[in-house]
Amino acid sequence: MYHEQGCGDLLERNGKYGSHGPGGGRGPKAAGAETDLLACADVSGVDGYDAVALGCPAMGSEELEDGEFLPMLESIEPALPGKKVALFGSYDWGVGEWLENWEARCAEKGISLAASSVKCNNAPDDEGLSACRALGAALA
Ligand SMILES: Cc1cc2nc3c(=O)[nH]c(=O)nc-3n(C[C@H](O)[C@H](O)[C@H](O)COP(=O)(O)O)c2cc1C
Repeated sequence: MYHEQGCGDLLERNGKYGSHGPGGGRGPKAAGAETDLLACADVSGVDGYDAVALGCPAMGSEELEDGEFLPMLESIEPALPGKKVALFGSYDWGVGEWLENWEARCAEKGISLAASSVKCNNAPDDEGLSACRALGAALA
């Protein structure tokens, strides 16, 4: 899992990742899909995207990063219901509560998750990378 993902922002176009997507881009790419990798500042909306993978590490106290990621998320959330959406991110000393809270937030907003969320304790191990690829493939 690369820094860009941990920091929080990956948008997927039709399932294609570049070389930096979850699992090194191999999940959706192996499924023959096309992707865009976008940093928060580059996200202007999700129109035209069939699937969206969102990544944000645990920040604050089991919270989403609120400087860049949360404002971006709030701007696109109304357009996410009906799209394929998946969540991922890294954490350190906790147990993943931030991701559970995020999943609950999605449910409250009518956003269905198309894949099991992926959480990695700091850098992903082989199991984490495999889970990332499965997440990407599920969105392709
Ligand atoms: C300000 C700050 C707050 C954090 N809060 C949490 C937390 O609540 N729970 C947790 O498990 N890890 C927390 N972490 C650890 C990060 O989630 C972890 O280091 C993550 O892998 C960082 O990803 P990045 O290096 O891609 O930014 C925090 C880190 C920072 C810097």
